[in-house]
Amino acid sequence: MRQTDFLVIGSGIAGLTYALKIAQDFPNKKITILTKANSDETNTKYAQGGIAAVMNLDADSFNKHIEDTLIAGDGICNEKVVELVVKEGVERIEEMISWGAEFDKHEGGDFKLGKEGGHSENRILHHKDVTGLEMERALLESIKKHKNIDLISHCFVLDLITQHHLGYLVTKSTPDIECYGVYVLNLENKKIEKIIAKITMLATGGNGQVYRTTTNPTIATGDGVAMVYRAKGRIENMEFIQFHPTALYEAGVKGHSFLITEAVRGDGAILRNSNGEAFMQKYDARKDLAPRDIVARAIDQEMKINGTEFVYLDCREMDQENFKAHFPNITNKCLSMGIDVAKDLIPVAPAAHYSCGGVKTDEWGRTSIRNLFATGECGSTGLHGANRLASNSLLEAMVFAHRSYLVASKEIENISFRNDIPDWNMEGTTAPKEMILITQSLKELKLLMSDYVGIVRNNERLQRANRRLDLLHDETERLYEKTEVSPQLCELRNMITVAYLIVKSAELRKESRGLHFNTDFPYKNTLLQNTVL
Ligand code: FAD
Ligand code: SIN
Repeated sequence: MRQTDFLVIGSGIAGLTYALKIAQDFPNKKITILTKANSDETNTKYAQGGIAAVMNLDADSFNKHIEDTLIAGDGICNEKVVELVVKEGVERIEEMISWGAEFDKHEGGDFKLGKEGGHSENRILHHKDVTGLEMERALLESIKKHKNIDLISHCFVLDLITQHHLGYLVTKSTPDIECYGVYVLNLENKKIEKIIAKITMLATGGNGQVYRTTTNPTIATGDGVAMVYRAKGRIENMEFIQFHPTALYEAGVKGHSFLITEAVRGDGAILRNSNGEAFMQKYDARKDLAPRDIVARAIDQEMKINGTEFVYLDCREMDQENFKAHFPNITNKCLSMGIDVAKDLIPVAPAAHYSCGGVKTDEWGRTSIRNLFATGECGSTGLHGANRLASNSLLEAMVFAHRSYLVASKEIENISFRNDIPDWNMEGTTAPKEMILITQSLKELKLLMSDYVGIVRNNERLQRANRRLDLLHDETERLYEKTEVSPQLCELRNMITVAYLIVKSAELRKESRGLHFNTDFPYKNTLLQNTVL
C-alpha cells in the first residue's frame, strides 16, 4: 500500500500542469502521478494545431474569442466558464512558456498566430505542427525537477475507492460519495495495489478508441469516465463526440490515424470531392473554415454522394516554403506515402477526435464525488457545449488544472488518510484463457459505434447500437467476474461503459445540435440543455 497527499491519474497536459503547481507550492507534500503507458504517451503529445488565446489585443479581443466559442458550442456552453477560460488563458500560457515550452515567433518577436475553423481571428499559438509534443516535453522536464513528485508509468488504474469498498451501499442518490484513492494494476510486477490519497485528480484524457477510426492514440479508452460512472458520479453530454474533418486516409489503417491539422486549412488549403470539385461553399458561408461539426458532416455527405471513403485536401496553391516551415511533420508524413503536397492532393476523411462531454465538474474542477477533481479531456466543464472550438482544449486543461490546484491546496488541510481500505478482492478469478474473446468484442464495439453512432445518427441506428451493446456488456461482465484483470479486459469494459453513455445520451437528446445530428429530430429543441447521467 502506498499513501500520497495528492494523487494524479494521467500524464498529459492536465495532470502534469496540476502536479507542477501543487509541487511548487507544497515542497513537503507527496504528489504521485500514475500513467498506464510511457509517461509521454498521451493525446497531448499528438496535438498539432496549437492553443487558442488572445495574445494580441490590438488585432483581437476577449469578446471575439468568447463569441466564437459560444457560436461553435451551439447554444449550450456555460457562458461564465467560457469567459473565465478565455480571460485566464493568457496567464496560463505565460506559465507554460516559463516551464520551457516554445511557440513560433516572427523575426520581430511577436507570436506567429494561426487560424482554425470557427475562429474569427488568427489566435492559435503553435510550435510548428507539433505543439503538443513540445508542451509535453517541457512539462515532463519540469516535473523531473521536483523531488516531491513521483511519476509512475505502466501503472493501470482499475477503480476509484469509495464507501462502496468499505461495504456501504452507494447509489446515484447517496449524498456524500467520497474518493479515498485507487486500486491499480502494476504492469511491471502484475500485482494489484492500493494507493490511498487525500485528494485525487482525474486527468485520464479522451475516448476516441471507442471508434474504428480515430486520431487518438491507443491510451484514449475513456477509463476515467467509466470509473466515475461505476463509482456513481455524474457524467454529462457524452453524445457530443467531435469528429475531426481531416484525418489522413491510409487504406487499411484504422486504429490511430495521422491528423492533418485544421491549421492547414487556416493557411489556405481547400477540400475537394472525388470529382475534384471544391464543395464547402454548398454547406456554409465560412466554407473550409466553418466549425468542425459542419465541415465533418459536409465531408460525410460528399463521401456518401460519391460512394468514396475519403475526400481530398488541396494544398497546391499554398506558398510551399511557408507550408514546409509551418508543417514539417505533415510534409514528411505525406512524402513517406509518396504524396508531394505541392503537386498531389492529400486523401482525408473524418475520424473520432475529441469528447466534449465527460465527468461533470463545477467551475473549480470539482466532481460530484468529494475529494475527486477532473480536468482536461475527461472533464465536462461547460466550456465546449455541443461542439468544441478548435484549439480550446489545451487551453481549458491548463485553466482548470490551475483552478483545481487553487481549491485542492486549501481543501487538503481538512482531509485525513483512510486507513481501513480492504485489499482488492480477486477471489474466484483465474488467468485469462482466450484473449480472442477480448479482441473480438473490441472489434465489434468499434464497428457498431462507427456504423450506428457516428457523424449522422437516427433512432433506429441508436436502438441497434443499444441492443448490441447490451450483449457485449453481459458477455464482458461475465468474463470480468471470473478472469484475473488485465489492461485489455479493463479497457474493453471501460469502452463498453463509455459507448453505453454515448448512446444513452444520444437517445435522450431528442434534437440535432452541434455534434449530435439525428435525422429523426433534425431541429433544435430549445428546452433541452445538458444530458446528465
Ligand atoms: P491526455 O493528454 O490524453 O493524457 C491522458 C493520460 O491519462 C495519459 O497519461 C494516460 O496514460 C492516462 N490514463 C488514462 N487512463 C488511465 C488509467 N486507467 N490508468 C492510468 N493512467 C491512465 N487540442 C487543442 O487544443 N489543440 C490542438 O492542436 C489539438 N490537436 C490534437 C491533435 C490530435 C491528434 C489529438 C488526438 C488531439 C488534439 N487536441 C488538440 C486535443 C488535445 O490534445 C487533448 O484534448 C488534450 O491533450 C487532452 O489532455 P489530457 O491531459 O486531458 O489527456
Ligand atoms: C488540429 O490541429 O486540427 C486539431 C486542433 C484541435 O483539436 O483543437
